[in-house]
Amino acid sequence: MRINRVSALAAIVMVGAALVAPVRAQFDPIFDFIPLGGRSLLTQVLESEPPAEEAHAILTGERTAERWIDYMKGRSAAVPGLQQLGDYELATLADYLSFNMPLPANKLPGDPAGADWSEILPLDGRDLALEFCQSCHIITVVVTQDRRKEHWLGTMNKPSHVEIKLTSEEREALASYLVLNASIPIDDVPEDLRAGGASY
Ligand code: HEC
Repeated sequence: MRINRVSALAAIVMVGAALVAPVRAQFDPIFDFIPLGGRSLLTQVLESEPPAEEAHAILTGERTAERWIDYMKGRSAAVPGLQQLGDYELATLADYLSFNMPLPANKLPGDPAGADWSEILPLDGRDLALEFCQSCHIITVVVTQDRRKEHWLGTMNKPSHVEIKLTSEEREALASYLVLNASIPIDDVPEDLRAGGASY
């Protein structure tokens, strides 16, 4: 009897926790001002109904970021989602592809048309920033800086940041995303994320 009561209580607590679980930061609309990262851009491309062999060729390709840009420009007639990308988006996606493709064979979906990309594609620089860069200071400290890659990596290797649970490859990917997409003017940052600017 006692055991039953306890497990019923545990079940209620668990349901409660599930109900109040916050929206994962990368999907919270307050962050819409931060440009999309490669995961979201690739999802848009894959959901634009490209022929299956085009999707497969992207997911199994291995290129440098520069070569990915050339490749995508060459495939844009066949892949509708590529036609909508601006220069920064194309560069952001190329960077992401250079870090994350080819997908491991066991991650490749049998039918790209029905795939749940949010489960399949690795996190992008925007996701990593929202997940790992707001626990000590607001994200504004990060996304308003205009920096070169070495400078970003330098910050991430300071004593204040070196403990963050990001692999060196993730640090590189995050730095590459920030080079292209940070330096957001403060006027574009929502009021709620401006207060105190640097709160550390
Ligand atoms: C464990 C706490 C913590 C986390 C997590 C954190 N920061 Fe910081 N950050 C700090 C502190 C403390 C400072 C101010 C002191 C300093 O600069 O070392 C700071 C300052 C900064 C600055 C301004 C000063 C500088 O060095 O350029 C930037 C940019 C920055 N952080 C970027 C990031 C990024 C990118 C991430 C995510 C990868 C991140 N932070 C996550 C603690 C943190």
